[in-house]
Amino acid sequence: MTQDFLTTPAKILITGVDGQIGYFLNQATQNDPFFSVVAFTDSKLDISSREQVQQQLSEHQPDYVINTTGFNAVDRVEAHSERCFALNRDAVENLALVCNELAIPLIHLSSDYVFDGHYASGYTEDDQAHPLGLYGESKWQGEEVLRSVLAKHVILRVSWVFSTIGDNFMRRALLQARQQEEISAADDRRGCPTSASDIARVIVAILKQLHNGAENWGTYHYCCAEVTTRYGFTEAVLAAAGQYEKLKVEKLIPISSSDLGSDAERPASSVLVCTKLLNHFGIRQRPWRSQLVAMIREQYQNEEINDITA
Ligand SMILES: NC(=O)c1ccc[n+]([C@@H]2O[C@H](COP(=O)([O-])OP(=O)(O)OC[C@H]3O[C@@H](n4cnc5c(N)ncnc54)[C@H](OP(=O)(O)O)[C@@H]3O)[C@@H](O)[C@H]2O)c1
Repeated sequence: MTQDFLTTPAKILITGVDGQIGYFLNQATQNDPFFSVVAFTDSKLDISSREQVQQQLSEHQPDYVINTTGFNAVDRVEAHSERCFALNRDAVENLALVCNELAIPLIHLSSDYVFDGHYASGYTEDDQAHPLGLYGESKWQGEEVLRSVLAKHVILRVSWVFSTIGDNFMRRALLQARQQEEISAADDRRGCPTSASDIARVIVAILKQLHNGAENWGTYHYCCAEVTTRYGFTEAVLAAAGQYEKLKVEKLIPISSSDLGSDAERPASSVLVCTKLLNHFGIRQRPWRSQLVAMIREQYQNEEINDITA
């Protein structure tokens, strides 16, 4: 039955709110009267514990659970494959089983790395997954377990997430540009950088429509608009950050990803086609360039606040 959101806010339970997407989703929903939010860091709810999941979901009885956790250290997966599968697959199964038992829909995040990257024109939700490495495999298995256990789910595959939180390629580029005169970035892998705050906007829009009666369960793609490479993105980071400070870097060198010496194989082109999300939910892509400008501004504002409070 459709609920009147003016009298009954949607009660949502978010996992992993110390992470990039979790943080921005928590921010976006906390001050929105449409939502009543229960937010968990990993220390308050370890989703790899079935017992904890059972206890918290039973106690709070949310209308929706949003799982923003993930083991995303792509290069460290080979050495930590147990932890990776425990979080990206087994913990998703925990959530799905308990959600199914309590009839709670689950919104879950997945990755462009479920694809092998051979389609330069981009991947739709109907394209065959074929992960290249253990990280992509763990995300794919997490998706599959969720589909098999819980009908009322939304799997949102996103790509190249950047933000002011944690370790991500926007912050790494900025750090290197402050410390080194020359930096390099791969110019041969294509994808769409996507800001964590924009993903939060998309999840909010999905939740509002689901809560107002839309039954658009299933798998969706979202990434910001404009295909680029890590080199193209780094160039934009330097231009945006250069508005705020004189960076040490003088030269940005394009290199091949084979020169990076990373452990994990990554898709060469992992562009996500987002037409299904537009057709089912009316959600449009925003350009990553404007998102980046806003994120860099926020990064400098945060640093200023930290300087003042230090
Ligand atoms: N980052 C990307 O580029 C990218 C790309 C495509 C898809 N995704 C997907 O998007 C989602 C969110 O990514 P993100 O970059 O926001 O992740 P993130 O910043 O790495 O945050 C993940 C959060 O999950 C928490 N966590 C780890 N183990 C947990 C557990 N057992 N129980 C509860 N929480 C736990 C982490 O806590 P600790 O920090 O304390 O471990 C962290 O706060 C993930 O599903 C990821 O696979 C990410």
